Amino acid sequence: MSRPPLLILLALAATPLLAAEHTHHGKPLEQRAPIHLTMEEKAHIHQEMRLFLSSTQKIVAAAAANDTKGVAAAARAAGMAAAHEVPAKLRGKLPMQFKKLGHATHVAFDDLARDADSLGDANHALRQLGQVMENCVSCHAVFRIETAKR
Ligand code: HEC
Repeated sequence: MSRPPLLILLALAATPLLAAEHTHHGKPLEQRAPIHLTMEEKAHIHQEMRLFLSSTQKIVAAAAANDTKGVAAAARAAGMAAAHEVPAKLRGKLPMQFKKLGHATHVAFDDLARDADSLGDANHALRQLGQVMENCVSCHAVFRIETAKR
């Protein structure tokens, strides 16, 4: 009769170990909030992101070459005009904080472009880029995309 309780005790003792499998330095591996999207919607977001990354790379390279016209062009490519139209259905699934941060990022790239053109100061552009990238960092810390397993 002592067998079933022992098994239960073992199972209970193993539970924290199983949970610990998904931790790193004692913290849960996944703390970001999931945004549930279709594969197509995820592709849309990822495409937008690769544009952000590409513009960021071009801004840094142009600023290092003191080419502020190049900085402006690269920043403008990630500005509001270049933002891909977000389908209404996808827009409806995105949390308000996500939409605000995304919008603010496009606007900030436009500001950077305008300043690079009018001031011609590569260091100023880099400082602005550092601030814009706080948006990248905060959003990535908070959200992840989850697609239905098919
Ligand atoms: C409003 C939120 C938000 C902002 C702002 C944001 N990102 Fe992202 N980014 C995401 C999310 C969400 C993902 C997808 C994560 C996932 O798939 O789980 C992502 C993914 C990416 C990827 C991977 C794309 C791929 O094809 O795999 C890159 C690169 C990236 N972001 C770069 C950037 C850069 C650079 C910036 C700032 C200039 C930025 N992001 C700003 C939310 C954001």
